[in-house]
Amino acid sequence: MISSISNSDAERICEVINAGATAYLGAIPDDCWHEPYMSLEELQGEIEAGVSFNGHFAYGELQGVMGSQDVHDVTLIRHAYVRPEHQGRGIGYELLAHLLSETSRSILVGTWASASWAIRFYERHGFRLTSRDETRQLLDRYWTVSDRQIEESVVLVGPGWPESRG
Ligand SMILES: CC(C)(COP(=O)(O)OP(=O)(O)OC[C@H]1O[C@@H](n2cnc3c(N)ncnc32)[C@H](O)[C@@H]1OP(=O)(O)O)[C@@H](O)C(=O)NCCC(=O)NCCS
Repeated sequence: MISSISNSDAERICEVINAGATAYLGAIPDDCWHEPYMSLEELQGEIEAGVSFNGHFAYGELQGVMGSQDVHDVTLIRHAYVRPEHQGRGIGYELLAHLLSETSRSILVGTWASASWAIRFYERHGFRLTSRDETRQLLDRYWTVSDRQIEESVVLVGPGWPESRG
């Protein structure tokens, strides 16, 4: 049910991202929301920058996606979305378990500070929320994001990330 998605399937990936991202409406600050949440051009830029996607398929439908990107010595989880009607059924967990099984690198994930459900989802699966300072350092080192997004984001470190590493 989980397999890698070809880059030529960007339109389908984009559709799932934008469907899943409706969860942010009213949750993240208004100035961080835009529609579509991710344009096809932006997604294609991400793919060119090295983000690759796994998808959860059932009955011919792409129900959820999880991207990953190797940056320096770590793997970043990038753009994890499950279609709203399929959330809460374990698809996110299956995608996460698959990603964890595919890499021996340390894993980091960034999300909106106000996306409490996403933070809880990663915490349930062994991730640790980093301090404000650690979040800033990690965003600065591994991501390319605006100052505004840094203010509104948190980073969680995956299982096995040392307490003292910054
Ligand atoms: C965050 C997200 C990717 C998780 O995917 P998901 O498929 O909903 O995740 P799961 O179903 O594995 O887990 C979600 C919850 O459902 C519960 N769940 C898992 N399997 C379940 C099942 N078979 N039946 C009912 N509930 C179940 C889990 O306990 C979990 O609860 P928790 O949030 O309190 O930990 C998805 O909810 C989503 O797209 N959200 C909106 C966008 C977003 O926040 N993306 C994250 C960006 S980093």
